[in-house]
Formats: sequence, C-alpha cells, structure tokens
Amino acid sequence: MSIAEIFDTMDYGQAPESRELAVKWLSDHQGKFDLFINGAWAKPGSKKWFNSVNPATAQSLGKIAAANGEDVGKAVKAARKAQKSWQSIGGHARARHLYALARAVQRNARLLAVLESLDNGKPVRETRDIDIPLVARHFYHHAGWAQLQDQEFPEFEPMGVIGQIIPWNFPLLMLAWKIAPAIAAGNTVVLKPAEYTSLTALCFAEICKDAGLPDGVVNIVTGDGKTGEHLVTHPDVNKIAFTGSTEVGRRIRNATAGSGKHLTLELGGKSPFIVFEDADLDSAVEGVVDAIWFNQGQVCCAGSRLLLQEGIADKMVVKLKERMKTLRIGDPLDKSIDMGAIVAPVQVKTIEKLVETGQKEGAKMWQPDIDVPETGSFYPPTLFTEVQPAATIAQEEIFGPVIVTMTFRTPDEAVQIANNTRYGLAASVWSENINLALDIAPKLDCGVVWINSTNQFDAACGFGGNRESGYGREGGHEGMLEVLKPKTHLKPVQNKRKSQRKATQSGSPSTLPSLDRTAKLYIGGKQARPDSGYSLPVLSASGQKIGEIGHGNRKDIRNAVEAARKESAWTKINSHGRAQILYYLAENLDARRQEFAERLQTTTGVSSTLSIDEVNASINRLFSYAAWADKYESTVHSPPLRGVTLAMKEPIGTIGIICPDENPLLSLISLAGPALAMGNRIVLIPSENHPLCATDLYQVLDTSDFPAGAFNIVTGYHEELAQTLAEHDDVKSVWYFGSKEGSAAVEAASVGNMKRTWVNHGQARDWFNSAHAEGREFLRHATQIKNIWIPYGE
Ligand code: NAI
Repeated sequence: MSIAEIFDTMDYGQAPESRELAVKWLSDHQGKFDLFINGAWAKPGSKKWFNSVNPATAQSLGKIAAANGEDVGKAVKAARKAQKSWQSIGGHARARHLYALARAVQRNARLLAVLESLDNGKPVRETRDIDIPLVARHFYHHAGWAQLQDQEFPEFEPMGVIGQIIPWNFPLLMLAWKIAPAIAAGNTVVLKPAEYTSLTALCFAEICKDAGLPDGVVNIVTGDGKTGEHLVTHPDVNKIAFTGSTEVGRRIRNATAGSGKHLTLELGGKSPFIVFEDADLDSAVEGVVDAIWFNQGQVCCAGSRLLLQEGIADKMVVKLKERMKTLRIGDPLDKSIDMGAIVAPVQVKTIEKLVETGQKEGAKMWQPDIDVPETGSFYPPTLFTEVQPAATIAQEEIFGPVIVTMTFRTPDEAVQIANNTRYGLAASVWSENINLALDIAPKLDCGVVWINSTNQFDAACGFGGNRESGYGREGGHEGMLEVLKPKTHLKPVQNKRKSQRKATQSGSPSTLPSLDRTAKLYIGGKQARPDSGYSLPVLSASGQKIGEIGHGNRKDIRNAVEAARKESAWTKINSHGRAQILYYLAENLDARRQEFAERLQTTTGVSSTLSIDEVNASINRLFSYAAWADKYESTVHSPPLRGVTLAMKEPIGTIGIICPDENPLLSLISLAGPALAMGNRIVLIPSENHPLCATDLYQVLDTSDFPAGAFNIVTGYHEELAQTLAEHDDVKSVWYFGSKEGSAAVEAASVGNMKRTWVNHGQARDWFNSAHAEGREFLRHATQIKNIWIPYGE
C-alpha cells in the first residue's frame, strides 16, 4: 500500500498491548482466588468458586470465591477489630499509608490496566489513560484529607466499619472512590466487587498487603448479589455505600431501613447531552463520542439522550453518522480501538431487547457498517432518531453504546425534556454562549453538569445524583462528609407523654374544662380547616385539656405539598432576602416572647425561667440562620484539568419535617431555620404532644413576609403524616425526629422516589446546645451540591 493510499483510508494498524504481566499474575495464583480477610487469603466457607470470564473472548480468566454469610461475618469482624487502632494512629500516619497505596498503584499501573481490560472488556487505552491514573489520584487526594482531617473536620469522627458494594463498569476506579475516602477518615472497610469483575480488586488486596496497610483495614469479599445482601444486613456494619442499579439500590434502602446504618446510593441515570444552535458542532460530535461510546456506554452518567436544537439537528445527525463510521470496535487490548467488549452476554441481551423495543415503538435505528467481532460480547455503536420523549428508550437506562436523539426549540423546552426522567445524575450542555450555558445549568435537576465537555471526573470534585439516581456525593470535601459522622451526644427520646394523650383521648371529654378555639392547619399562607373536619385534643403537662388542633390527614399533606411545590418565589429570593425574612420572623417572635413562654410552660410543664429561655434560644437560632443564609457558600474546585468546577450548594426542594416533642418551639425553629435559610419550602409537622406553640406561630408567620406556601404546618398524628410525606413524590427529603420505629417507617417509605431521609433513630438532641443543634450539619442536610464543570484557563 502506498503512502497516499494509507492517507486515503486513514486505517490504523494494530497496536496490541502485551498481556504477559497479567497472564503471569493469573498463573501465579493458579487461576483460583480466595477471599481477602484480615490481611490474608481465606478459603470461602461455602467451598464454592465461580468463573470470571474475559468478555472479549468468552474464555475463563480464573475462579473467584463465593463468600457466604459466615465469610462476610469474618470480614466484618476483622474490620471491626482493626478500626480503633486505624483511627487512633492519626491522620498523618493514615496519610502516609494512602500515599504508599497511590505509589503502589502507579508502580503496578500496567498490570492493573491490562488486567482490568481483560476482565471487563474495556479498551486498554481507557484503563491506561483514565481508570488507573484516576485510581492513583484518588489515593493521593485522600492522603491529603487524612493529613488535614483534624484541622478540616474537627467536629467529626469516623463512622466505623463501612460495607461497600460496587459495580462492574469501573471496577478498580469504583473501588478507589469507595475505599480511599473511607480509610482516609479512619474507617475500615469490607468491599464486595461485582461478580463479573473481581480481579483488580483482588490484585489491589495484594497491593495493600505489600504496601504495609495494617491487617483488617481493607477486606475484600467476592460473590454475587447474595454476598452483597449478607453485607447489607450485617448488624455490625455502620454504613453501606452502594453503586449500581436503581432496582438494587431500592432493595438496599428497604433492607437497611431502621437499622441505623448510614447509606449512600449512586444509582442509574439517563443523562441529557444538550446541543444548542450556537455550539461548536465538531467539538460536540467528539463530546458525544466520549459521552456514549466511552466504556461502551456502560457509564452511569453516560450522555445517552442527545437533545438537539431544531436548527442544527439534521446537520448534527449527519456529522455524527460520519463519525460513527470511523469508530473501531474490537480487541480491548488493541490500543487503537475505540470500543471494546460489553461486560457479559447477559448485558448484550438487555441492550438488544431495549433496542428492539425502541424500534417497535417507532423510533428509527441506525448503525454504521463497521466490523464487529463475531466472538465475544460486542455491540456496535447505535443511534436512534425520531424518538418520543416518553418512549422506553428515552426513559430506561440502556447501559450500552446506544444514544437516542430528540429535538427542542427553546432553552426552556430543552430543560423540560432534560428533566423529564426519573433520574437526575448528570447533564452536558454545549453552547458557545456562556450566558446561555450558565442559565441552563442551575435549571437541570441533576448532580453534575459539564459545560462544553462530558464525563470528566476528579477526586477533588463531588459526584452523585438527585432523584432516582440516588443520594450522597463521592469525592472531595463533600465526599469526606459521607464517611464521617458528627461527634454529637445523643440520648434516647423520652416518650412518656404519648400514653397520657391516648388515655385522655379515649376518656370522657365532659370531665374536661371548656374548650378554647380549635387551631387549624397552615397551608399556602392561610389557615385551613383539616380535610377530615376532625380535631384532636391537646393536653397540658398536668393532663388537662387545653385546646384542640386540626386532625391533618393525607389530603392535607397533599395540599400542603402542592402549595409548597407551587411556591417557587422562596427559592428564587436571594440569600440576603431570605435572611431579611428570617430576621423579621425573629423580631415578631420577640414581640410575643411572653405569650410563647406561657404557652410552653402550660403545655410542657417547664418552669417560667426555662420556658423564657426556650423562646430566647429560638430567637437566637433564627438570627443564626438569617446569618447563615448568605454564609454557607458554594466553593470552586480546581481539578488538575483544563477547567474549574463550581460546587454549587442548591436547595433540595420541598422538605417534610417531623418535629420532636423535646423543646417543641426550639426544636421546630432549629429544623425549619436551616431548611428555609437554604431556600427550601417546608411542610412541617409540629410536636405531636405539644403542637400549640406551632399553631400560635400562624399569626407570627402572617406578619413575617414569607411567600405563601414556603412554610406550611400540618398538625396531627406523626405516624400517619410522616408516612404520607415519605411516600409523596414531590417531597424531596424527609427529616424525622421521633421514635426509632417511626424512623424505620420513614426510611422504608422513602424508596418510592428514592428521596433523602434524615432520621434520628429515636435519639434526642440537646436543642439548647448550639454545637449539637445548629450549623453546618443542619445546613448540609438542607442542600445538595451540583458540580458544574466549566472550561477555564489554558
Ligand atoms: P446490580 O445493581 O445488580 O449490581 C451492582 C452490585 O450490586 C454488584 O456488586 C452486585 O453483586 C450487587 N448486588 C446485586 N444484588 C444485590 C443485593 N440484593 N444486595 C446487595 N448487593 C447486591 O447491577 P447489574 O446487574 O450488574 O447491572 C444491571 C443494570 O444495572 C445495568 O444494566 C445498568 O442499567 C445498571 N447498573 C448501573 C450502574 C451504575 O453505575 N449506575 C452500574 C452497574 C449496573
């Protein structure tokens, strides 16, 4: 072939990476792998091993142990035993260990890259240039957090033993995302890799041993979903961190509800890739390649919905098809291929089925005429046009190299289509107009936005989603807060008043003093009669009936949520404006300080001094949150890439708040304050036994300039109302401060739209102590971080 002909075809030759190192490593283990527990290999109690297969060749790479419940128990025990000393060696010592791990990953980079490619089927170019360097970067970055832990997180301590369950799409990278922050913070871990891709985790176990990591700090238990279940339900695990499908995430939420285990879920996505008319289309085409054909589209944040502005839609599709014809699919160890194998035949079947559905539903499918290997699990790059936004392929995660295209006319319509899924993980916005891009970014309901870029990751920048994409963030400062817990001193809730209330309710009302007026509910800025038309008696500390409150029901909660949903003005008011209104509320409460103190005295039976203290503390707290409103600020990360990342603290939306009985006014203000200061709308259920200080607030609220619907109050039985709030799709988070059983019920009911929950598991706080009842912990629960990546600098 002449040089001119080579230029004409632009064909690449083969550039195979040597598999030698990996083959040697596999044969050094005789192709059989045990579990890694307490720094040593351990045979599985089940005496069962399963095959790990190279998806590009369908050949076995080795046998992997299947851990049973007993094995998981041993791993958790080893982790527990190691935890205290790992914590107490201090941040600097841990930093040195993480640094050693980072160095060891770099030393073994070639072995890890090839092994990952063999096991998962992804191109070695990706494992070599993206996965493994990012793994090392994670350990370096988190060595830094360990070093700075005492200065940066003085009020926090490690959670203890963390169970981590990871998927197969980025096996070693997900391991690093999970393990690096957890052990940096002083936790120990039991990690379960995905059954398709355990090899690099086992190789990493050896690296830990060689690098001198103390025994028991990192334990690896291999196996399938059953092994995962054992880990999830083990009583001595303090937290579960999961990445995988929304379906399994839901099961894990259910299984851990009420257990007191902290939970973070990083689930699926159907992320939009939005191209405006003024975008640089050639760059956008390359962006699409990285968005959906990177890792064969098996990426939770893959840009799988291409939204094109009408004027450029046809042109963009033509360009994209041309580019697709040049994609090379084949042996993952060939450094010049673009797409490798799909992880397993079952995943290929899933992709095929969804593609078939797409065609049946009327969308138009196109695949380039390129060579696709006949053996192994391969699937060609695929483009759908003429897709309806409600079509299955526009809504379901395909998790393969398949992109669906839709068009839009205006920026508003783009946002509407972009947000029209149950997920909310990531989005990519392409426009040469920075004003337009930065106008769109805040309107997208997701955890990450890339401007004129896509699929960028760094250890310093948080990653995670909204809605059914899960909750919690991994990476950076916010990721550290997911593996630490505040050093608060909680005590069991005293619940003796409940039985009193019930006794009197069933007693004869005629023996009680005459009623004063019945307090209604407060919905949409107005007092509203409860839907049931019924009221409930309220008792004084001495058991006398002192009033009645509305018996709120499901319908009232729905009305309140609707009022909150419609009230977008509160979120749009700037932080200064919100602070002003909180100050005003404090001022109005101050004007009626004596009246509230007397109410507290009668209802809770505290002394006059304590009751006036509680009102004063409530006013003080409102001042605090007025102060915080413009001081809990967003940050800017400088990842080692060409760009900056704005870590924007955004309100969550509508928050349902169920208040405790202790210090009924102060606890109510302590919970409503941060939620409102951060721009959320609230539906608040006041103390069940002492609700009158909340109903007395109606008049104070009337004169405090809150937009109607920002602050709603529904009185009634906690169990019933909390359940409705937790099940409601428009409620994005529920804070529950009541009994242990109630906490469990809220967590279980939250699985519907995978909403965030913050529950106290029957533990009480000292509401007077501002170190435990005010500040950053509360503000963190009132916000979610959106990381917006912007090209910046050279
Ligand atoms: P999966 O969610 O079933 O597996 C992820 C991990 O969870 C694996 O380690 C698995 O062994 C474990 N697991 C499974 N059932 C469990 C249970 N009941 N309790 C505890 N752990 C359990 O994902 P799978 O089957 O591998 O893939 C199915 C679909 O999930 C994909 O087609 C894709 O749509 C989605 N997925 C999303 C990922 C993401 O990063 N968002 C990653 C992997 C899959």
